[in-house]
Amino acid sequence: MGIKFEKILIWGRSAEEYTKMFGLTLEDNKLKIIDCAGGPASFNVEMTRRGGNVVSCDPIYKFSKTEIAQRIQEANCEVMNAVQGNPDNFVWQDIQSPSQLLNIRRSAMQEFIEDFSLGIQEKRYVIGELPTLPFTDRQFDLALCSHFLFIYSEQLSEEFHLACITEMCRVAMETRIFPLLDTSGKPSPFLLPVINQLLKQGYEVQIRQASYEFQKTGNKFLRVLRT
Ligand SMILES: C[S@@+](CC[C@H](N)C(=O)[O-])C[C@H]1O[C@@H](n2cnc3c(N)ncnc32)[C@H](O)[C@@H]1O
Repeated sequence: MGIKFEKILIWGRSAEEYTKMFGLTLEDNKLKIIDCAGGPASFNVEMTRRGGNVVSCDPIYKFSKTEIAQRIQEANCEVMNAVQGNPDNFVWQDIQSPSQLLNIRRSAMQEFIEDFSLGIQEKRYVIGELPTLPFTDRQFDLALCSHFLFIYSEQLSEEFHLACITEMCRVAMETRIFPLLDTSGKPSPFLLPVINQLLKQGYEVQIRQASYEFQKTGNKFLRVLRT
């Protein structure tokens, strides 16, 4: 059975997961990074603690901490139902069980919640919605987008994907997107058409191996560079 979600979930991952999903090196960690659709991930707070330069952008940042925590709680239930109902869709290696998954993600999202007010004050969490970002051209070195594009191919159109990626390429020199599968674990039908469009528009595009695989075969990220 495949996994399908009615709407885009408010759920967040840790810096360790981001590092593996996007192949981030120590050199990459020194870059000015924009985390698009950053949601309640702890990537921003963890990187800030290590002296990194990360801004996260997401429409949920217009909500209060309590409202975001409520949306996280709803997502916890949806994800747990989906994972427990479809255990064969996942690789239970680094994450060994659904309860461990919930613990890892809860602790990442708790870090985000505790950092949220300070991060808003410091403009590390910025309200913004793809495909129109509130940033200037080339304001960042690297744009990341985890678990928003391609994964929600049922909800978001091919045109929307292309518009989001070209917008991220406007604000950053390089863009990385993970995963390239939809929620049911199939390759996104938009991947190849979007790559072809980007190549036509003169971008350099690569599919890179990630050292992260939780959704089965979900172990690749897209890298798009301005030429
Ligand atoms: C599944 S979460 C991923 C969070 C984080 N990137 C991670 O992987 O841990 C998806 C996020 O996409 C955000 N989102 C929904 N629509 C968006 C849009 N138009 N532009 C940017 N983010 C959006 C949601 O608010 C949510 O926080």
